[in-house]
Amino acid sequence: MTTPPRLPTGRPDKHEPATMGFGTQSVHSGNDIDAGTGALRTPIVMANSYELPDDPSTLSWSGTGTGLYTRNTGINQLGLQRKLAVLEHGEEAVALASGVAALHAVFFTLLESGDHVVVANVTYEAVYRLFTDLLTTKYGILATFVDSTDLDAVRAAIRPETRLVHVETVGNPTTTVTDIAEVAAIAHAAGALLSVDNTFTPPPLFRPLDHGADLVVHSLTKYINGHGDAMGGAVVGRAELIRQIKLDAMVDVGGVISPFNAWLIMRGSVTLPLRIRQHCASALAVAEFLEADPRVAYVAYPGLPSHPQHEVAARQLPNGFGGMMAFAVQGDADAQNRFVAALRVITSAVSLGHDETLIVHVDGSGPRVTAYPPEFRQFGHLRLSVGLEDTADLLADLAAALDETFSPTP
Ligand SMILES: Cc1ncc(COP(=O)(O)O)c(C=O)c1O
Repeated sequence: MTTPPRLPTGRPDKHEPATMGFGTQSVHSGNDIDAGTGALRTPIVMANSYELPDDPSTLSWSGTGTGLYTRNTGINQLGLQRKLAVLEHGEEAVALASGVAALHAVFFTLLESGDHVVVANVTYEAVYRLFTDLLTTKYGILATFVDSTDLDAVRAAIRPETRLVHVETVGNPTTTVTDIAEVAAIAHAAGALLSVDNTFTPPPLFRPLDHGADLVVHSLTKYINGHGDAMGGAVVGRAELIRQIKLDAMVDVGGVISPFNAWLIMRGSVTLPLRIRQHCASALAVAEFLEADPRVAYVAYPGLPSHPQHEVAARQLPNGFGGMMAFAVQGDADAQNRFVAALRVITSAVSLGHDETLIVHVDGSGPRVTAYPPEFRQFGHLRLSVGLEDTADLLADLAAALDETFSPTP
């Protein structure tokens, strides 16, 4: 993986993000030496409220910039937000309680009754539910689901009242790859904003704001924390949009991140560049291994030449294709379950982007799957989040589980 280009601004300075490479930013951005103790890492500050000035009359009770009340903001959250803005090339960031809280924050803040949204038909499950049920029936927001890899379909779905287009860089779970610059141009030509969930391909792999998106959403629970031990979400973008989201969805709805989770995610994110490199290398090896085995029915991974959007992926993700893939073994749902049960290193669990490799079997039924490719409907899918174990151990575990699944019963 090549190192992302760095701005030629001269001498690196840990207080000046633009002078640092991505690895240095991941270590230093958002961290302050504690003024009270001299501690090198911002301590966890669990206080709910902060001391007010002698004359608080000029304070905004909805202020989100400094210590006041932890639902408005906390010290650990402020540091994490600064770091996320630097990593995603945004002006500002808001850190929230979960990825879903971040998605909801975008939709709740930007959309009003009667507004229309164009949503990719492959997204994280909760987005589908928000736009088929909660936001539509409760708030009168209209949504059209489209194949976001089909630019004509995206164009055709736009209406005069379209305010937002929402897509995922690499879609969960099918790994469809959306051309963000093209979709941004379509959204902007219609006067709409583009929000992009970049959870599967965090920096340094891809930065949607550099390609025309207005807002980037992350489940920090996944790669940015990376250790499977904290929940968080974030939205990054222009200051005026993020400030509105903070006011509406954080201060007045309360989806704030806890100081402890913000601290854990700050710590986890320090090693993001190193982890991402390993996730990408192992995932490509695993995808190639699985695709070569005739007992595997299909593999969907953007790094494989067989992936339908491989050309867009290669252009958009020059430094690696991420750690996420979907595949199935030959056979029915029972065969998928037997394969998963035979694994001894890889764990069956939801979530992704952790240090450990996780797999989850989803069968090919239900309303969501109508948008998925035919092989996903026929076999179901195994969503695999390739972790940081030795690549050889992962390949050996998969090979042994294939042998066990397909060996004739004695
Ligand atoms: C792409 C994507 N976005 C958002 C979320 C939601 O994140 P969280 O579980 O932190 O609420 C997930 C969860 O799996 C996801 O995969």
